[in-house]
Amino acid sequence: MKLSFIKKIAGLLALACLWVWPWPVAAQQVQHLAVAQPGGIPGLPVLTGIEVVSNGVNVTWAGPSGYYQVWQKQNLAAARWTSVGKGTNLARNATITSLTNNAFFRVSGPSPNYLGSQGCAECHANIRGTALNTPHFGAFTNAAFAVAGGQTNVSCLVCHTVGFGAPTGFVSPSKTPLLANVQCENCHGPAANHAANPGDPTVIPQVDLAATVCGGCHSASQTSYPNPPTFEEWSASEHAAVTPDVLQVMSASTNNIRTCGVCHSGSARLAMINGSDPAIVLTKDYNVPQTCAICHDPHQTNAYPFQLRNPMASFDNFELTSSNVATEASFTNTYKASVNINLCAQCHNDRGAAWSDTARAPHYSLQYNLLLGSVGEQLYLPSPFPGPHSGLPSTAIYSTNGVFYLTNQCASCHMPPETASSSAHNHTFSPSYNVCLNCHDGPSYQASLSYNLSNQVCQVLTDLNRWAGVQTNSLLATNGIVAWEYSTPGGLTWQANPAGVVTNWSLNNPVTFTGPGSAGQQLIPDNIKKARFDLYLILNDGSFGVHNPLYASFLLQSADAFVLSTPK
Ligand code: HEC
Ligand code: HEC
Ligand code: HEC
Ligand code: HEC
Ligand code: HEC
Ligand code: HEC
Ligand code: HEC
Ligand code: HEC
Ligand code: HEC
Repeated sequence: MKLSFIKKIAGLLALACLWVWPWPVAAQQVQHLAVAQPGGIPGLPVLTGIEVVSNGVNVTWAGPSGYYQVWQKQNLAAARWTSVGKGTNLARNATITSLTNNAFFRVSGPSPNYLGSQGCAECHANIRGTALNTPHFGAFTNAAFAVAGGQTNVSCLVCHTVGFGAPTGFVSPSKTPLLANVQCENCHGPAANHAANPGDPTVIPQVDLAATVCGGCHSASQTSYPNPPTFEEWSASEHAAVTPDVLQVMSASTNNIRTCGVCHSGSARLAMINGSDPAIVLTKDYNVPQTCAICHDPHQTNAYPFQLRNPMASFDNFELTSSNVATEASFTNTYKASVNINLCAQCHNDRGAAWSDTARAPHYSLQYNLLLGSVGEQLYLPSPFPGPHSGLPSTAIYSTNGVFYLTNQCASCHMPPETASSSAHNHTFSPSYNVCLNCHDGPSYQASLSYNLSNQVCQVLTDLNRWAGVQTNSLLATNGIVAWEYSTPGGLTWQANPAGVVTNWSLNNPVTFTGPGSAGQQLIPDNIKKARFDLYLILNDGSFGVHNPLYASFLLQSADAFVLSTPK
């Protein structure tokens, strides 16, 4: 054991040295690739962080799986590197307590041994079988790359081959034919040692959901060939971090990882769709946001374009409720039955919100259901059912040049092409108002929509407050003009503080309001509950009605009618 350990370390690989400097390293229990590297998981160790901690300095690095040793030089002039601490196994971080002020560090580790995907076939035939059909496995051999001169241009190879620039990595098509194209080891790290000895836990390849695994290649930062800034855009999006509030909620109980993590945590979501219970599997790794591998299947091109795990458009109602994720069996049924549901709708749905809920307003994620018009309490069923932006086939939705612009539903507006002629799509997920011009004449519709809707919102709110002010139930009266609210008041009550307590704006006579508790909720008439539900659907959707303009307006109209028809 000792000997083989030394042998692995002996493939010594020096590293850039860094000053001791507080470098932010996310305090994660599972270590993810911290810095995007062209080529994917680096074959040689790369220092990714040096962070001052209470008892010394924490050094983190990326590199292949295996044993590493950290070395220290006390100062620039020092003649020797001295080893610090013990060799690490799989953990690619070490805390160093024996410090001097200007220490330098380097890390030595396993020599990368690349194999090529043929060598994985024996044991991972299924994965390899489908992965071979992905564009990655033609990244070097495809005609476009050859025509662009990439095959003989060294500046192109790191992202189009396996391990270029590292020992045993790609050299040339004649010398290393098995390492052309992007393959398994770009995303999992060099794996020849694992293939030779699959039972050896010290060389087990990495499975990392971090976007950095993809981001070093899917980046515009290399200038040799014009690449879309996919990683940069994603990094700027809300999908790039788990909402801090929700992180806290998930850290409080494993059950919260199940009920919130299935949409808020990428790793919990994947555990769920792979048939495991996220609450049990992922107590340590729920800090992964909506990364590339959550939307894209790295191993296969399936029925959907761009290796997406789900299609981009669908018209069936769908909601992910805590009851259908509570047990594996019921989730599997829900998911299997609805894999044909729009990728975005997998998370951006109403979570089963109903007008009869009393604890809180519908969740902020209800976009899909509003787009379709499948959530909301209506006075009557409108005909034709308004949903012009859902992409339902309607001649009105064809532009003059006959293109069906909303074919991709959410992605049509939120992921428009980077440029008019580009085949790459914006990954910030922010909607483009330019897209509207494909079907509408000018930007005035947007202004008029928000003007009309905000008038309607004010009208419903005023009528709800008025109803609450004059209604005659004495228990509800203790809640004052927000007697119509949910127990946890939503964003439409005045100055809700973080505890959900709202204060009247009268300076002379401050009055504290809270929504009615459960006893009070039972006294709120159904029509008031329906009205507040509709009102909050429009508010929490976050599109100011754009997702379904005519329907949004109709719901607010319905809401007001519900209030006005309610006896005091
Ligand atoms: C001789 C059989 C064999 C070969 C060849 C082999 N593997 Fe594996 N691989 C395994 C086994 C067995 C496991 C499961 C090990 C475990 O979970 O302890 C595994 C696990 C993995 C994992 C998942 C680790 C995890 O944490 O879930 C990855 C990734 C992987 N192999 C990649 C590769 C790649 C890439 C190659 C080719 C370069 C390869 N393997 C070749 C047998 C093999
Ligand atoms: C080593 C560099 C590298 C890494 C790492 C990498 N990619 Fe790629 N990817 C490429 C290249 C190069 C292409 C273009 C292949 C082609 O079309 O010839 C590509 C193509 C794709 C495509 C196909 C696009 C299309 O037009 O159909 C998808 C999807 C994709 N990558 C997603 C990912 C995801 C998700 C990850 C991380 C899990 C990832 N990639 C990691 C280099 C990489
Ligand atoms: C930093 C990594 C990186 C480098 C370096 C790089 N590429 Fe790429 N290349 C990619 C990625 C990622 C894609 C896929 C982009 C996508 O589909 O969004 C790609 C796609 C391509 C495509 C389109 C493939 C197809 O099938 O249509 C061509 C052609 C190409 N690259 C040529 C080159 C050439 C030539 C060079 C060197 C001058 C180069 N690349 C350097 C990452 C890289
Ligand atoms: C573009 C990056 C990428 C490539 C290429 C890739 N993988 Fe993976 N692999 C991932 C990611 C991300 C996961 C975790 C997400 C998932 O399971 O879908 C994963 C999961 C795995 C797992 C563990 C879970 C499972 O699905 O069994 C194994 C084993 C594995 N990959 C083997 C391989 C082999 C073998 C190849 C080559 C034939 C390969 N991978 C190619 C990114 C990649
Ligand atoms: C069905 C998927 C889903 C589930 C389950 C879910 N959420 Fe969300 N949540 C979302 C989506 C999608 C958004 C983003 C919507 C937006 O910003 O407009 C969101 C937004 C939020 C926000 C607002 C974030 C912000 O940036 O303002 C909070 C807070 C939140 N969720 C908390 C939770 C908590 C706590 C749970 C568990 C009890 C939970 N969510 C369960 C999908 C979900
Ligand atoms: C795995 C679940 C999941 C999937 C799939 C998903 N989202 Fe999200 N999305 C979220 C969560 C959770 C948030 C909230 C993040 C936060 O606020 O911290 C969010 C935030 C957003 C936001 C920003 C909202 C804001 O408050 O600014 C937009 C826009 C968005 N998503 C659009 C999309 C689109 C378009 C798709 C499909 C291409 C999609 N999402 C797919 C979970 C998901
Ligand atoms: C007709 C174009 C269009 C379509 C289709 C569309 N959106 Fe939107 N979306 C918008 C606009 C415009 C906004 C308002 C953004 C702003 O100005 O803040 C928006 C807002 C959002 C927000 C809230 C952003 C925030 O800042 O709170 C989320 C989340 C979102 N959309 C997700 C989706 C999802 C998921 C789908 C598909 C079910 C979808 N959208 C379909 C145009 C569209
Ligand atoms: C929330 C889901 C989501 C996430 C997260 C996501 N993508 Fe995508 N991606 C999509 C969708 C949807 C499309 C297709 C858009 C369209 O055709 O309108 C796409 C398209 C692509 C394509 C094809 C070329 C293009 O730009 O259309 C590549 C390559 C790609 N994504 C790579 C990535 C990488 C790399 C990451 C992480 C940095 C990532 N994606 C994160 C949903 C996602
Ligand atoms: C694919 C074409 C298409 C796109 C793109 C599109 N719309 Fe629409 N929009 C329609 C159709 C069709 C109607 C229904 C018109 C009707 O019935 O009078 C409509 C209705 C509307 C309405 C309400 C009725 C009206 O005419 O005033 C508003 C407001 C609106 N859209 C705003 C937007 C905004 C904002 C965007 C961009 C974020 C957008 N639309 C993008 C096709 C589109």
